Amino acid sequence: MFVYFVESKLRGSVVWVTGASSGIGEAVCYQLAKLGAQLVLSSRREAELLRVKKKCLEISNLENKDILVVPLDLININAHKAATDKVVEHFGRIDILVNNSGRSQRSLCVDTDLDVFRGLMELNYFGTISLTKHVLPHMIERKKGKIVTISSVTGFIGVPLGSGYAASKHAVQGFFNSLRIELGCYPGITVSNICPGPVQSKIVENAFTEHPNQPLESAGDQTYKMPAERCARLILVTAANDLNESWISDHPYLLISYFWQYAPTWAWWITGKLGQKRIENFKSGLVCAF
Ligand SMILES: NC(=O)c1ccc[n+]([C@@H]2O[C@H](COP(=O)([O-])OP(=O)(O)OC[C@H]3O[C@@H](n4cnc5c(N)ncnc54)[C@H](OP(=O)(O)O)[C@@H]3O)[C@@H](O)[C@H]2O)c1
Repeated sequence: MFVYFVESKLRGSVVWVTGASSGIGEAVCYQLAKLGAQLVLSSRREAELLRVKKKCLEISNLENKDILVVPLDLININAHKAATDKVVEHFGRIDILVNNSGRSQRSLCVDTDLDVFRGLMELNYFGTISLTKHVLPHMIERKKGKIVTISSVTGFIGVPLGSGYAASKHAVQGFFNSLRIELGCYPGITVSNICPGPVQSKIVENAFTEHPNQPLESAGDQTYKMPAERCARLILVTAANDLNESWISDHPYLLISYFWQYAPTWAWWITGKLGQKRIENFKSGLVCAF
């Protein structure tokens, strides 16, 4: 297969990145800015989005008008239409939607309030599909566009301490895999699901715990994870090449993903053993991988 380089495919595109204030989304924005893409930056914290915009302008040839900051709480689906209208009014089009906003979870199912499971679905699933549903008609009108969704390897594998998170990402995978088929009559509109393993970001610090507003005591060491910049680069390669799905991870998480996909009986046995260790570590106060 011929592989397109991101530079030639994404330059000049109008790209809307949710969760642009931190971690993977922030790193994606910096790389897109350097490539010369026009950007829409969304998340809840406007001050952080303005910080990211300032840095994008410093490292690129973009001008102020090329980067639009649209503060948006993805859970507030009533705000999605106005936000979409604002973007279309400013740029006249949306070439790529990067559905990246999301939160994770660190808690045992048995100890976790139902509201936490709801919160994970409201943000990771309903927020994501609602915004997509508002952007999609604009892409259909132009018969052109890319919908790039940051799912997770937990979109197809199970993970202890993240039952609600994995469920929300499985839902995302099911939705976008089905949407891709429905869009078969629009070959110019592509749907890419990105499945990262552990990546350095604020994801653990911001994770849901047993109760909706209870922060995690410590995020622990994140340095063993893949740098967000590497993940961002591979996200853009995925988008530029219209891949249906990409797994972005170091070993052993990538190897476990392969087992889960191709040898599930082995995967269940291995993850059962590793999972018990992870739970023991969690109960003794150690922070666990992804
Ligand atoms: N890091 C990993 O190991 C990893 C692995 C697999 C998948 N992922 C996925 O990658 C995506 C990005 O996560 P990250 O690792 O970069 O974590 P992060 O550093 O915590 O960033 C999460 C982003 O989501 C935004 N966000 C949170 N709640 C929101 C809401 N209600 N409305 C709008 N935006 C909201 C945050 O911005 P505000 O706080 O400003 O709203 C922030 O910009 C997520 O979908 C995550 O599930 C991450």
